[in-house]
Amino acid sequence: MCGIVGYIGSRQAAPIILDGLSKLEYRGYDSAGMAVFDGEHIQIRKAVGRLKVLENLTHGGETMKGYMGIGHTRWATHGAPNNMNSHPHLNTAQTIAVVHNGIIENYIPLKKKLMDKGYQFVSETDTEVLAHLLDYYYKDNPLEAITKVLHRVEGSYALGILFADHPEEIYAVRKDSPLIAGVSAEGCFIASDVPAILKYTRTVYYVDNQEVVKLGKDGMKFYSVDEEEITKEAVRIDWDADAAEKAGYEHFMLKEMYEQPKTVTDTISPRIRDDKIVIEELKMTDEELAAVKKLHIVACGSAYHAGVTGKYVIEGLARVPVEVDVASEFRYRNPILEEDSLVIVISQSGETADTLAAMRESQARGFKVLGIVNVVGSSIAREADACLYTWAGPEIAVATTKAYSAQLAALYLLAIKLGVVRKTIHEENASELIRDLRRLPDQIELLLGQKGKIQRFANRYVGAKDIFFIGRGIDYAISLEGSLKLKEISYVHSEAYAAGELKHGTISLIEEGTLVVAVSTQPKLYQKMISNIVEVKARGAFVMAVTNEENKAMEKASDYCVYLPETNPYFANSLAIIPLQLFGYYVAVGKGCDVDKPRNLAKSVTVE
Ligand code: M6R
Repeated sequence: MCGIVGYIGSRQAAPIILDGLSKLEYRGYDSAGMAVFDGEHIQIRKAVGRLKVLENLTHGGETMKGYMGIGHTRWATHGAPNNMNSHPHLNTAQTIAVVHNGIIENYIPLKKKLMDKGYQFVSETDTEVLAHLLDYYYKDNPLEAITKVLHRVEGSYALGILFADHPEEIYAVRKDSPLIAGVSAEGCFIASDVPAILKYTRTVYYVDNQEVVKLGKDGMKFYSVDEEEITKEAVRIDWDADAAEKAGYEHFMLKEMYEQPKTVTDTISPRIRDDKIVIEELKMTDEELAAVKKLHIVACGSAYHAGVTGKYVIEGLARVPVEVDVASEFRYRNPILEEDSLVIVISQSGETADTLAAMRESQARGFKVLGIVNVVGSSIAREADACLYTWAGPEIAVATTKAYSAQLAALYLLAIKLGVVRKTIHEENASELIRDLRRLPDQIELLLGQKGKIQRFANRYVGAKDIFFIGRGIDYAISLEGSLKLKEISYVHSEAYAAGELKHGTISLIEEGTLVVAVSTQPKLYQKMISNIVEVKARGAFVMAVTNEENKAMEKASDYCVYLPETNPYFANSLAIIPLQLFGYYVAVGKGCDVDKPRNLAKSVTVE
């Protein structure tokens, strides 16, 4: 999704903006642009494609002199990626510049009204409406114009705004799209995410919905939509900028896969005390937790897949019913939430528009929402009634790996905790489960050590047309994630199927040589999976099995086997995902794909 950076201070703005935008590249974009006030006019430069193009065009920002500016990386929604549609957008007099992340939902009627008043539009974007609307309301008072605009627009936005006749100020505002502001001795910053400004400051403010920020060279002020000044607390960022750098790995995705042992440790360790699961962040007593009658897990993409695993684990261990929904479906299907239900939303970014909306919908109906979130201070983290952080640190690659693993770990903790308070798990079982949980990081490490083997195998499939993933029960959940990992970064068509469902239609797609990845980690289902493997092999499939060391029969049944170390079957997904991530990664690398920034995708999907 789009990225925003702004700076005002004692240094040249353009190089700082370019540098900040480069830290937001992970969000996904197809064009970029900057507006810098040169002392007299607002200068604009835009470029389609990678940020490098804009850097070259402006000689690293050298050719855009000025101490205040705003920049933007655009992920096209309204109109193709071209210079007309790229941000910043201007009013006709070119005295107001706007960058925008989000979608103005009522832009069509607003555009019509503005056109009736004589405003001329040069782009197909929703954002241009904002530049003209600001112009319409602007009478020498930027704050007044901005708040009037906010009362007219519907949708989501994080905005950075320059007014040429207020050259000592930048304005910013947000609703449902992420925005932070930072302050240092050398000036003030706005950005869509912390890494963009971490090189310059660690003192950050999380801008809340419908708060307006006025940034000057020496500090910033916050206002409500009613133009009343508000006081906000700064947050000190204590994680390191290095955590968001590649550290010698070829891709962020590979680095992040290698961080999984640490991520799982960091997520579980602080919540295990004296051999007991203690999740203070739940803000619920054991009695309240035991009284929960149903869980609704709501999320998107991989976070949804983590939720599917969570359903099997929680239902299995705690015997409490769990429904899992894709957030974009949940929010519009008028779900039936019974009394004593707890809603859990899972999100790496904490900004996914559909997940956020599903959370708010649940809260509006009076239900408590627990967020399982990675990005500290994100919208979901702040608005959820309770927040269980997955301590994965910044995840840059669009394809999630370490945050997903941390989500699984968080769900296991919750499942054990629920099982204990509901008395479906006895104390000694809980100890065994906790022991197995603690062993996961080393076992993941061990599997990562097999990367050479998986790479050689993956190289055989760089030309594949279709690859299928099958599994039963919990292994179906991991098949969903394995298939998504492969397709999103390598562009190889792939589907995941509950193995028993294959013969109800999809098996007709199996041809001589089609790769079928069969995940079989559940002892009670070994034999059933072998039957499914026999079925696809009879139609010409080549079968790669991902199974437990003890499952010797698989050696004969499949064509290629990857073995997993022994763990409790409920936790097997945390191990099975490793070879599947490596496989997807190496197919993509073999095809020469842009692994960290796959086409058409954004890291954080902040629009519906
Ligand atoms: O930030 P979130 O966890 O809410 O994001 C949800 C999905 O957009 C995300 O998991 C997406 O599917 C990833 N590209 C998967 O690798």
